[in-house]
Amino acid sequence: MQDFEVIVLAAGKSTRINSEIPKVLHKIFGKPVLGYTLDLLSAIKIKRIALVVGYRQDLVKEFIKAYKNKLDIRLCRQKRLLGTADAIKPTRNLFKKAKADVLILYGDHPLIARQTLLDLTKTHRNNFADCTLLTAMMDNPQNYGRIIRDRQGRVTKIVEEKDCLDQQRQIKEINTGVYCFKKDVLFSNIDKIKINKLKKEYYLTDIIELLSNNGYKIEAVRLEDSSESYGINTREDLAKVIDIMRHRILRDFMNEGVTILDPNTTYIYPGVKIGQDTDIYPYTFIESGVVIGKRCSIGPFCHIRPKTILENDTSIGNFTELNRSRIGSFTKVRHFSYLGDARIGEKVNIGAGTVTANYDGRNKNITKIGSGAFIGSDTILVAPVEVGKNAITGAGSVVTRGKDVPDFAIVVGVPAKILERTTSQKRNNKLKTK
Ligand code: UD1
Ligand code: MG
Repeated sequence: MQDFEVIVLAAGKSTRINSEIPKVLHKIFGKPVLGYTLDLLSAIKIKRIALVVGYRQDLVKEFIKAYKNKLDIRLCRQKRLLGTADAIKPTRNLFKKAKADVLILYGDHPLIARQTLLDLTKTHRNNFADCTLLTAMMDNPQNYGRIIRDRQGRVTKIVEEKDCLDQQRQIKEINTGVYCFKKDVLFSNIDKIKINKLKKEYYLTDIIELLSNNGYKIEAVRLEDSSESYGINTREDLAKVIDIMRHRILRDFMNEGVTILDPNTTYIYPGVKIGQDTDIYPYTFIESGVVIGKRCSIGPFCHIRPKTILENDTSIGNFTELNRSRIGSFTKVRHFSYLGDARIGEKVNIGAGTVTANYDGRNKNITKIGSGAFIGSDTILVAPVEVGKNAITGAGSVVTRGKDVPDFAIVVGVPAKILERTTSQKRNNKLKTK
């Protein structure tokens, strides 16, 4: 795939999404729509991308800084936003010495899969086509360009919704906006496209009719999974795409042996790992970068935020929020807790309502709790602070910053004071006599 030049169009004004933020920067599970396309291109080892920017290009520029080490992104500015054909023109100079084939993607299609791009480019090359486009069958094709084929099934034209005759509007095969072109074919025909009188824009889709009338070879690859073809033009589209992506993620986890009790109320971001035989209860929200071990029980009603690691056999219950924390095996955080920047050992019991006060207004501070500790209900741990192994905090204790609780100690009160200090031997004997 390295040998394709790539153009991504992201200059549009976001009129239909009704936003001051460019459409391609609206987020899906915390990641901008455009990020999905860039990650996909990076995954198929594309090196250089011409990214066409226009509306609020300052914001797009800022966002792509995150890709500095992954991709060589060349920004091409479209001065007046005169449509998708006009958007190709500012890339011309960049491609003067470029290789023979160009892959074009629209920045508002985050569901396109890796294999689809590989199939499309392969078909293009194997057939020595001048243009190869990606199409899909849609039950409700409204607002998409319709694919017109001749009697032999060859693609001859794309007609946009607004220009469709009644009969054409019934066509269910649509243009996804992903195309391969021979470079010279693209750039020698792009200026020939005439302005669309209705929209006052130059449509890239009009190139198909031009090429077809002049005997160029046009191929089409039809998507097997039409759900990949959804583009985002409105906020309703955004919600739909989020829903499709969410169900894809949940389906993959279920196939990997994770139980999702209610897919309709479970939100798992991309980039989460969950071990086999873990149960995810309803109304659970798990963000990117979280790692959950095997045989855990998660939820209902909990929120697990980035950089959190749950080891095997942990149990996280309702109304619990975990953030940048590590929770050891067999530890239980069952009810109403907030643990942020916490390092919790094994077999710890975190009582209902336990809170780590991890933020002092300037810094996020760490709370450590040793294995075997028992944290009483409503304990507040003002970080940075450490609770030792097998220590106990009484209900309602406030363990203040720096007042570490030694191993095996029992602390109570506000601020928490040591009530008893014991050794492991004494504690064991006591437990035996109970
Ligand atoms: C386009 C296609 C349509 C296809 C659909 C798939 C055209 C004329 N129509 O329609 O056939 O079914 O996508 O989703 O191409 N952009 C620019 N500069 C511009 C205008 C747009 O860079 O002047 C960018 C936008 O930021 C967007 C992409 O091009 O990423 C597509 O534009 P959009 O307005 O969303 O086109 P659609 O109406 O969806
Ligand atoms: Mg669109």
